[in-house]
Amino acid sequence: EKGEHRHFMSKEVHEQPEVLSYALQHYAGPGRDRIEGAADAVDFTGTDRLIMVACGTAFYACQVAKYWFEQIAGMVVEIDIASEFRYRNPPLRDSDMALFVSQSGETADTLAALNYCKGKAGSIVSVVNAMESSIARASDAALPIHAGVEVGVASTKAFSCQLTVLLSLAIHAGRTRGHLSAADEAQLVSRMFELPRLMNEAIATEPQIAKLAQWLAGARDILFLGRGLMYPMALEGALKLKEISYIHAEGYASGELKHGPIALIDENVPVIVFAPRDALFEKLVSNMQEVMARGGRVLLVTDAEGAEIARHGTAEVLVMPTVDPRLAPMVYAIPAQLIAYHTAVTKGTDVDQPRNLAKSVTVE
Ligand code: M6R
Repeated sequence: EKGEHRHFMSKEVHEQPEVLSYALQHYAGPGRDRIEGAADAVDFTGTDRLIMVACGTAFYACQVAKYWFEQIAGMVVEIDIASEFRYRNPPLRDSDMALFVSQSGETADTLAALNYCKGKAGSIVSVVNAMESSIARASDAALPIHAGVEVGVASTKAFSCQLTVLLSLAIHAGRTRGHLSAADEAQLVSRMFELPRLMNEAIATEPQIAKLAQWLAGARDILFLGRGLMYPMALEGALKLKEISYIHAEGYASGELKHGPIALIDENVPVIVFAPRDALFEKLVSNMQEVMARGGRVLLVTDAEGAEIARHGTAEVLVMPTVDPRLAPMVYAIPAQLIAYHTAVTKGTDVDQPRNLAKSVTVE
C-alpha cells in the first residue's frame, strides 16, 4: 500500500534509507567493520575477469560497480547490456566470472545472456530482488538485495540496494584477493552504515526539488552531466526522467561534451550536473563553465564545499550532504529520482505506470 504517499514511486524513494540499512545487515558483520555473510557465497580468488550484464537501471548499477571492482579489488571488469551481449558471442574462459543484476530476475535478455554463459564462464552469479525468479534459479549463487517489493515501474530502491550489494561484493573481492587492507575495509564499511542518515538528508531537499520541477517540466530536452562514479548517475538521472516525465534527456560524461553534445546547449536546455567534491570536481566544474559560457542554465547538485566553490553563475544549486566520494552514488541517486518524480508530477503524467513500459520485461 502507498500509505501517506501519492504514488508508489514516492513511497519507494522514501523507503531507501531503511531498506538499504536492512540490506547492509545481511552483508556486513556485527562489528560494522567488515563484509561477511551473504557475500561469502562468492569466491573471487580464482577469477581473472568479471563480466557484468544487465538492462536499464540495473545496467547502470553495473556501470557504477565497474569503478568499485577496479579500484577496490583491482579486478579486470567488463560490463554490457544484455541485449547486445547475448548476440555478440563474446569469447569466455573458465577464469571468468559472469555476474547478472536484475530486480525482477525475469528480464528476458538478461536471462538469455546468463544461459549463454553457462558452461563457458567459470561461475555464474546473480544479484536479484526476486529470489524465486528464473535468473536466481539458473545461477551458481544468487545474492538477494532485500529491497522488498518494488511496484513503481521506475526502479528506485532496487537500484540503491543493488549498489549496496555490489559494493559489498567489491569489498569482499578486494580483501580475499589481497587488494584491500583490513583497515581500509573497516573504514569503508563503517561509512556504508552512515548512508541511511545521509540519504535522509538528501531526501530533506525534496521541497526545493519540487519547486525546481516547475522549471524543468517546461523543457523539451534536459542534459545530465557527471564524471567518474557520477557518469552512470547522469545516465540514471536521464533514464528516470525520460521514462516517467516523457522529457527527452541524455546523460553524458562531461569530458565528452566538446565532442558533440555541447552543440545542443542554449538557454532552453537545462543542464543538471552531479558534482560531489571528489578528485574530478575541478574538471567537472570547468566543463560546467563551458556550458554556462554558451548560455546554458545549470542546476548544480553538489555538497556544501562544492557549492561554495562553484555556485557562481549557476541557475540553481541543490546541496547534498558531504559523503565519502566512493559512496556518493547512493546519495546522488536520491536527487536523480526526485527530480524525475517531481517533474513528472508537475506534468501530470502517470508516474507509477508510464506509457509503453512494463515493470518486468519478459519479452525481448
Ligand atoms: O528487473 P530488471 O532489473 O532486470 O529490469 C531491468 C530494466 O528493465 C529496469 O531497470 C528498467 O530500466 C527500469 N524501468 C528503470 O527505471
